[in-house]
Amino acid sequence: MRRILFVDDEPMVLDGLRRMLRPMRKQWEMEYATSGEEALRIMADGVFDVIVTDMRMPGMDGSQLLYRVRELYPHTVRIILSGQSDKEKLLRSIEPVHQYLSKPCDAEILKATVSRTFAVRRLLENDALANVISKIESLPSLPSMYSEITDEIDSPDGSLAKVGEIISKDIGMSAKILQLVNSSFFGLATHVGNPAKAVSLLGLETVKALVAGIMIFSQFAHPPSPYCAIEELWNHSVATSCLARDIAGNLNLTREEIDDSFLAGLLHDVGKLILLDRFPQECKTILEVAGSMGRPIVEAEKIVLGTTHAELGAYLLGIWGFSDSVIHGIAFHHRPGECPNAGPGVLTAVHIANESQYRSAPDGRTLNFDLDYLSKSGIERVEELTSACSYP
Ligand SMILES: [Fe+2]
Ligand SMILES: [Fe+2]
Repeated sequence: MRRILFVDDEPMVLDGLRRMLRPMRKQWEMEYATSGEEALRIMADGVFDVIVTDMRMPGMDGSQLLYRVRELYPHTVRIILSGQSDKEKLLRSIEPVHQYLSKPCDAEILKATVSRTFAVRRLLENDALANVISKIESLPSLPSMYSEITDEIDSPDGSLAKVGEIISKDIGMSAKILQLVNSSFFGLATHVGNPAKAVSLLGLETVKALVAGIMIFSQFAHPPSPYCAIEELWNHSVATSCLARDIAGNLNLTREEIDDSFLAGLLHDVGKLILLDRFPQECKTILEVAGSMGRPIVEAEKIVLGTTHAELGAYLLGIWGFSDSVIHGIAFHHRPGECPNAGPGVLTAVHIANESQYRSAPDGRTLNFDLDYLSKSGIERVEELTSACSYP
């Protein structure tokens, strides 16, 4: 049975949650606390999968509580359920938050968010992955600007211009976005001079994905390692995302799937950053195993760690609340045939885009398309899909 702890200082809010979630009581074990202190007392008695807390509470507030939870129970997924007026405060303290929900929260949204968190855990539940995750002190949080943009768009007076303003406030981010959208990756005919223009030309979802990618990659600063050079990986990721988006378009996927293909393409190898950062010794062993056996890195990861960068990255995106198609696109990008859902979809686009990047790899790596999966997805000739893409 999955366990969730809800924390709010207003008993009426907790009563509302109790009523709202009554139908779930056979699947979930739910506990309720009226303060941060009480929450920590309850948590000391048993493991919780998810904690959902209010932000503004007397005594220990939601942010202080989540810092403690992160310290004591790093694998509990941390969700803030908070009113809009807390936004300012939230942005200063978002660091320990995995997901953010706005009050008043619709029962369906809350159920879907918590269910998705559990589904991801189930999908990726294997002892080796759990073992690797248990050795990571604390998983990185979703960049706060990403939540700020989502919030802006969800608010009744949200606008694309305001999203541009949010990005412009961060000069470093703004410069990186403009450099990227004016690069050959995007092949735009006009020069983009400010973030608002980037949003109007490329679309909100694309710019939001770029914000997430830039911020996540900037948290990791390692000298190039033979396992993974971060700058190279970033270029590979941007190329994969642009190509995946074009392939998704050629596959006639929906608008949402095209956007998800771009996001999943950009973050498909994020697990490598975590492995390099938290498991440098194992990365050396992975390289040795790959070299001595003449096998791809991803297979060596499986031999050394029992899991792969793909599963680890998908797990992270899962606890950040991304959609199933993004999570599948990342989890199975090297072995799409193992995905329980049949193609074509986001995974198909990411798999083809990723493998296409190795066409001219200097190490002579051969293409690893899963031809059986592609043919089951109705794709016989991959070249026809990629040659019609605007990204080379
Ligand atoms: Fe990969
Ligand atoms: Fe890749």
